[in-house]
Amino acid sequence: MIKQANWIEYKCTEDYGCPEYKKTFTLSGNIKKAILYITARGVYEAKLNGKRIGGFVLAPGWTVYEKRHQYQEYDVTSDLKAENDLSVTVAPGWYQWENVPGRDERIAGRRAGAVIASLVITCENGETQIVHTDETWLAGESKLLYSHLYNGEIFDATKEISYGSVEVTNYSKDALIPQEGEIICEHERVKPLSYIITPKGERVIDFGQNMTGYVEFEVTAKAGERVKISHAEILDSDGNFYTKNYRSAKANIEYICRDGTQIYKPTHNFYGFRYIRLDEYPDDVNCDDFTAIVVHSNIKRTGFLHSGSELLNKFFSNVFWGQKSNFLDIPTDCPQRDERLGWTADTHVFIKAASYNYNTDKFFQKWLGDMVAEQLENGFVPVTIPSAFAFSKDGAAWSDAVTICPWQLYLAYGDKEMLRRQLPSMKKWISFIQSSSKDKYLWTGGNQFGDWLALDAPEGSRIGASNTDFIASAFYAHSVSRVIESLRALGEDFSYYEDLHKNIVDAFRTRFPVYQTQTEHVLAIEFNLAEDITKTSDALAQLVHKNGNSLTTGFVGTPYLLHALSKGGHTNLAYTLLLREEYPSWLFSVKMGATTIWEHWDGMREDGSVWSSTMNSFNHYAYGAVIDWVYEVSAGIQTVKEYPGFEKVIISPHPDKRLGHLDVKIDTKNGPLRSFWQYNSDGSIRYEITVPCDAEITIGTKNYSCSKGDYIFYSQI
Ligand code: BGC
Repeated sequence: MIKQANWIEYKCTEDYGCPEYKKTFTLSGNIKKAILYITARGVYEAKLNGKRIGGFVLAPGWTVYEKRHQYQEYDVTSDLKAENDLSVTVAPGWYQWENVPGRDERIAGRRAGAVIASLVITCENGETQIVHTDETWLAGESKLLYSHLYNGEIFDATKEISYGSVEVTNYSKDALIPQEGEIICEHERVKPLSYIITPKGERVIDFGQNMTGYVEFEVTAKAGERVKISHAEILDSDGNFYTKNYRSAKANIEYICRDGTQIYKPTHNFYGFRYIRLDEYPDDVNCDDFTAIVVHSNIKRTGFLHSGSELLNKFFSNVFWGQKSNFLDIPTDCPQRDERLGWTADTHVFIKAASYNYNTDKFFQKWLGDMVAEQLENGFVPVTIPSAFAFSKDGAAWSDAVTICPWQLYLAYGDKEMLRRQLPSMKKWISFIQSSSKDKYLWTGGNQFGDWLALDAPEGSRIGASNTDFIASAFYAHSVSRVIESLRALGEDFSYYEDLHKNIVDAFRTRFPVYQTQTEHVLAIEFNLAEDITKTSDALAQLVHKNGNSLTTGFVGTPYLLHALSKGGHTNLAYTLLLREEYPSWLFSVKMGATTIWEHWDGMREDGSVWSSTMNSFNHYAYGAVIDWVYEVSAGIQTVKEYPGFEKVIISPHPDKRLGHLDVKIDTKNGPLRSFWQYNSDGSIRYEITVPCDAEITIGTKNYSCSKGDYIFYSQI
């Protein structure tokens, strides 16, 4: 129905100004049902008779708009009256913005602001009344004077909108598709932890939690007085407000008050923050007047973890907050600085953890749809989805998300149709590697990210010491093996890819007979490239020992590190790394007060000084991927590829006395799954296991074939 309407447009005088459209209409009869179909070039808020329609914040979300532009459907039956006023305010959102690092003309060059809508009213007498966007609508510059994804917004509550006519455009409607992903909603409302006057004299409110969303405030003021708010993730080592790591993103709210007491919150922007600074505030500062509203995609939590270590529990909480903060319609790297992009490596290293933590099926299916839409004819997959860069890198380990993510999603939810849909893009990616590499069976050359941010990077480089050809070739093999697994699962012929994989492994072993870094060992183990997995894992353990029982891995090695140790029987050492509190480690950030996951192991140093402002997010979920080792090895919960989606599970817990106990639950589609273990004072370990399906349970050296039910086991240490 929406395609029968036309895009209408009103051009604001200033760039990043936001039009408000309106239409008044009278009902022609008693109504039975009324459905509004709507979308915009930008992000919109629609109101019917002054009331917000629906709970979708920042609708229609971010897709490859040229090919897939979601529209939404709202039931507005109960909000219609005899005389009606429908209004829509549109801000540029993800449709148009500047300052993208690397700057893509596609985004900066788009013009946001147009809206298309169709309100279909079915009357009790069977007649239909339709209100389309057309030349009868009016529009003007809204009270939202300025709105920019990175910079924030200016809202003038005193403004009287003057309405004029709209232009009916011939913008294409071909890309319009119904809503596919999870909608973005408001979630927790967080009250301030404290009000601080910093050494510089800044008025700062600490919400105690790094998050994504916006601040709501109640202020009493005279017309024209202003509230100006800045956002930050941390205070610097002197206790002052620190915004340098936002880089060019100003992330401000400027609100011009009307007379009296008023409540305001942004409606077309989001911010990544823990602290706000009141740069201007006309009223007495009272913490009760401020609330941080958490905003993220409406994913349902499914994973619950609790252990005997309070630090580790806080780390678990940080992983969940990291995920919530970065699952905002697309999986973003970070929510605060001038990026907020769908970086593909960050996503593929975290997708397994993400899918235990929350039900991410719908969320990722939509994003994978965009990945397919962005893939070039030659198979190239950009390193951010939707693509936000004019430049392109070869992207081994980044663009390999195109094979890794669908397979992982299949293991988690068992949806064959999704896998079938993604398969052509997976195969095309393999062809791209084949056509772009210098070697037939290795992926060499090109401009790669390597083991991004690894600690063994040479001075001044962000690329770790691991050989980039090694990493690219390892991911080549891994991507091919994801294609093989997928073809096998779909009952299709995989002989070509099996031969290819064998050739890649042979070539790999010949070219890379020795492994230098932790990450090289890790990849050789995890991707089954090493001839002797146990020996390689032993060598990895030696490297970790030599390095003072600490890691050097970056984005590529870290997510697999503990698994690679466990594969060779070094679970004890894996626990040592997990529970390590000194730098570098996961718990170091927790000890430093982190409430989300840091981008850098040394984002903040022990003395409170920060790594560098050029690239230092305190809300990057990637390293939180280690939580999948807790699910899969500590708690021992493993999916079975022949029975994906928890149709059958393997439970093989690996307790460690340092932790005391571990309790892990996953709400699967078949019911709750739980693996609990605890060390008793008599030296035994008690296990409580609940499975919602058939399960192979291993306790120590004993195996049990079980069906759905609750089980208790004991083992001696
Ligand atoms: C992002 C990362 C990303 C990386 C790749 C960064 O700017 O924040 O998470 O994977 O670039 O180069």
